[in-house]
Amino acid sequence: MCGIVGYVGSQEAGPILMEGLRRLEYRGYDSAGIAVLDAEGRLRVVKRAGKLRALEEAVTEDMPSGTCGIAHTRWATHGAPNETNAHPHFSGAGDIALIHNGIIENAQALRRKLVELGYQFTTDTDTEAVVHLIDEAFKTNSTLEDALVAALYQVEGAYGIAVISSRDSGKIVVARNGSPLLLGVSQNGEFLVGSDAAAVVKYTRDVVYLDDRDYAVLTADGYDVYSLGSGAVSRSVHHVNWDLEAIEKGGYDHFMLKEIFEQPSSLRDVMRGRLLEEEGNARLGGITLSDEELRDIKRIVITACGTSWHAALLGEYMLEELAGIPVEVEYASEFRYRNPVLEDGTLVLAISQSGETADTLAALREAKRQGARTMGIVNVVGSTIARETDFGIYLHAGPEIGVASTKAFTSQIVALLLFTLYVGRRRGLSILQGREVVAGLQALPGQVEETLRLSDDLRLLAEAYQDCRNFLYLGRGYQFPVALEGALKLKEVSYIHAEGYPAAEMKHGPIALIDEDMPVVVLAPRDQVYNKVVSNIEEVKARDGRIIAVVSDGGVPELESKVDHLIRIPQTAPYLLPVLATVPLQLLAYHTAILRECDVDQPRNLAKSVTVE
Ligand code: AGP
Repeated sequence: MCGIVGYVGSQEAGPILMEGLRRLEYRGYDSAGIAVLDAEGRLRVVKRAGKLRALEEAVTEDMPSGTCGIAHTRWATHGAPNETNAHPHFSGAGDIALIHNGIIENAQALRRKLVELGYQFTTDTDTEAVVHLIDEAFKTNSTLEDALVAALYQVEGAYGIAVISSRDSGKIVVARNGSPLLLGVSQNGEFLVGSDAAAVVKYTRDVVYLDDRDYAVLTADGYDVYSLGSGAVSRSVHHVNWDLEAIEKGGYDHFMLKEIFEQPSSLRDVMRGRLLEEEGNARLGGITLSDEELRDIKRIVITACGTSWHAALLGEYMLEELAGIPVEVEYASEFRYRNPVLEDGTLVLAISQSGETADTLAALREAKRQGARTMGIVNVVGSTIARETDFGIYLHAGPEIGVASTKAFTSQIVALLLFTLYVGRRRGLSILQGREVVAGLQALPGQVEETLRLSDDLRLLAEAYQDCRNFLYLGRGYQFPVALEGALKLKEVSYIHAEGYPAAEMKHGPIALIDEDMPVVVLAPRDQVYNKVVSNIEEVKARDGRIIAVVSDGGVPELESKVDHLIRIPQTAPYLLPVLATVPLQLLAYHTAILRECDVDQPRNLAKSVTVE
């Protein structure tokens, strides 16, 4: 996620802002910048692409002088990660500088309106529109805060904003809606703003958390908080007693746990601005195919590795069931070396969290060599796979630091469903069916929040099974890829051997493994193959297997007597149940790894992005 830091007080702002950016590096970023108002009220902006040291080198020679400034680390969501698109963004006259965290959903419409008013855009970002809105609002407002408020009433989407201007110098105006922002208030007349406490904790542990629709004005004399539309408000001061490492993990013990618990918000972000409720459709600005070209797709080949390959399998099920398109899923490492037949009308879809996985990139390039049209579903904006595909969908899941992929996987599933809806509604999926999909997606983040409450139950389960040497994960239909993913999660963080299988495959061999030392996790939500899975459970039970069943609402009295543990998830559509069924498996893997004292964020032998063959 982007990082925000601001300072106004009696000291030079530059060094304090740079220290704040260093404290925010853990959030992941691809460029950084700083803006400072000097004693004469002149605005100075310095920004660089890449790591912070590039900006440090630039300001070390010539640090912007002044006691009021803002700074930003950017995690690109709109526009490539380069110096031009780095924040702060500034107005044409260079007298307003603004930094932003979040996604402006109506940025394109605002851009069109501002261009008609004569504004010239120099970046590809959604943020730049807000600067020009403020510039325009200054024509009828005398203070920076009034100009920002006038701008915010035209903005749709999530933001954490800080802005300074030489037209109203000596103050920082900040605003929050959907993207965290806090004020740091010190006892000796220093006032700071940060996207999280890490940015300010070196100078003060007294912080004021802003609420959505709050905005605030900070000067060297103090701060005032207001709420859009209702005037001044009072926000209490909290004392932060976390250490820095805890702050980076948001108070969680590990990045993996933090990212598991981030899934309600990461799922909201992958859907943000993309659901068309009335039409039962999706809005995907990154898909550049015409309706006719979408209807002409004859086959889709999805290629990926690891967890992304599991998401690809789910994409196959959705696209064939809801969009009626033949789909084939290929391990990228296999696809790249065999001579695949890619006839006309074949779309090759690469799925990758990092956008840098060597095998997936090579498979993509092989597909392009054969003339296939290519698409990407990627998390890291501006990554190689994102840049080399013809078009695609970004996950907007924010940086995924833990090596074991969690929030990216569930966002990949949703991105695939959005694509399925987008294509399906152009290939015969009815409006009522589309509305059902949209309704299921809208309910999903709340259902994930409900499922996350099972964490303590999963920890108890992990205690019971932490010494087992092998696990079997079984699932059918949409739950088969979930079985594979659950097994991979356990393997890679706890080092226990685990295999995922189609539940019906048991009788073709694996059932020979079943005994009381082999826990069997069975995905058995109430979907179209539930009764078949119940039969598989009975086969395992008859051989003294210990069964952990993941079930959904709708009552499972017939299972109570057959299994050793029941994990209940909310009921939803079969193509959405994989998101809910995966969460307890992520938690089981996490808690088991912790009990076995494994390095859950950096498991042995693994890398977050496998950029070598
Ligand atoms: C998943 O938990 C693993 N870290 C790994 O399988 C990963 O999914 C795989 O390496 C693919 O990475 P990508 O999504 O960045 O391409």
